[in-house]
Amino acid sequence: MKAAAEKMYAPQGPKGSWLSGNLMEYRQDPTGFLTELQKDYGGVAQIRFGPQKMYVIYDPSLLKEVLLTKHEYFIKLKAFKEARLFVGDGVATSTGAKHKRVRKLIQPHFTRGHIQTYAEQMVQTVRKELDSWMPGERRILTEDVSNITFAVIAQTLFSLEGGGYTDSIRVPYELINRMCSERMRSLFPVPLFISTANNRAYKKALHELDQAVFTILQQRRENPEQGAGDLLSVLMSAKDENGAGMTDQELRDELMIMFIAGHETSANVLSWTFSYILQHKEVEDKLYEEWDRVLGGNDPTDATYMQLTYTQNVLREAMRLRSPSFFTGRSATADVEIGHITVKKGQSILFSPYAMHQNPEYFPDPLSFIPERFENDFLKKIPQFAYIPFGGGPRGCIGNHFAMMEMVIALCMIGQRYRLRLAPAHPPIEMEALMTLRPKHGIQVIVNNR
Ligand code: HEM
Repeated sequence: MKAAAEKMYAPQGPKGSWLSGNLMEYRQDPTGFLTELQKDYGGVAQIRFGPQKMYVIYDPSLLKEVLLTKHEYFIKLKAFKEARLFVGDGVATSTGAKHKRVRKLIQPHFTRGHIQTYAEQMVQTVRKELDSWMPGERRILTEDVSNITFAVIAQTLFSLEGGGYTDSIRVPYELINRMCSERMRSLFPVPLFISTANNRAYKKALHELDQAVFTILQQRRENPEQGAGDLLSVLMSAKDENGAGMTDQELRDELMIMFIAGHETSANVLSWTFSYILQHKEVEDKLYEEWDRVLGGNDPTDATYMQLTYTQNVLREAMRLRSPSFFTGRSATADVEIGHITVKKGQSILFSPYAMHQNPEYFPDPLSFIPERFENDFLKKIPQFAYIPFGGGPRGCIGNHFAMMEMVIALCMIGQRYRLRLAPAHPPIEMEALMTLRPKHGIQVIVNNR
């Protein structure tokens, strides 16, 4: 009897409108909607976007089943197929054998040990970006940190001078990012073959992005000795079991994924981290104390990185409150039981690191910025999958160590040189939930020598 009742368990959710379901509420305020669902429905809620019913999972033990123990029943969320137009079918979106093969190929470049070899390059790249900063000037911090993380990816993984690619890749990317997010949230996006002004602009930007990446491939073919051993050369020389290399389209997709997954996320975390430091003098003071003690004015290294524990915790707390991947999801490839719920083949599951990180059961005083909460092995004391800025399981972030290292390096280097203050009459810093969670109107600061 008990078993039958459990089998019949059907998660509840807000009713929404008969046509679009809960899509309008989600569109109006994605982060608010996902947070309220957790408050109202607990470990799992059911919602509907148009005809599509989905579960939103908040219970870490259920999420563990989806991401780890029963991961083979799931592929990346089908709703991301809109994003595939520009992201392509690379390691973050591909499935099955293709995903496994590329992930295995690139994994050695992202181990903790290998990342250490990038530390010096990361320092040099950040230094180059900071050299143009003038004390007393007003800067758009959000753009600066984006330049830094973009240049770091370009330099460390592809041996490219990042600056030269800012216009050709980042500019079209920005436009596509905004339009793609809009299309993903729309019930009926205008098909791209219909020639509207928006669609034309979208397609033009997609074309520019492709050209930029194909140019990179072409240049490397002409100068194969450049960047020997880097990730680009590994991808370009990889052969499958039949001895065939990747096509240009496949290479384009893998490069694009790395640029997209790797630069915007870390840039957003750095921006949010500064926004908290600017509003918490006690955090700034503790950071200065740690940097003076550990670095004494020197640039960070892979060795000192390990000692910068407060700096790491400040970043972890910023990722708790402002997870760049504020939601993601999976679609079931077969009927599967998750806890007491039956997820049907084709049905989708969402989860929101942003909302889960506000669960007071695991994060007391959840809305306050308290880096100290991560001290004393805090993450070992809460359930696995309760804190998931980098996701988890076999599809978790491959760049987590890379990101932590570059963010610590950038934060220390900026903070040791400059004292940042919000620019006068700065509007409140609001969230904008596009593909990732970013400060809506950017952050402008005045930089002064420390
Ligand atoms: C603070 C920075 C970052 C955050 C918060 C972040 C977050 C995430 C999350 C949550 C996922 C899993 C998404 C899902 O389960 O659906 C993911 C996947 C991924 N990330 Fe990151 N990421 C960051 C930095 C990076 C960097 C620096 C790189 C590369 C240099 C990178 C490359 C990837 C790739 C390739 C995947 C797909 C992995 C797969 O599907 O096998 N990320 N990231």
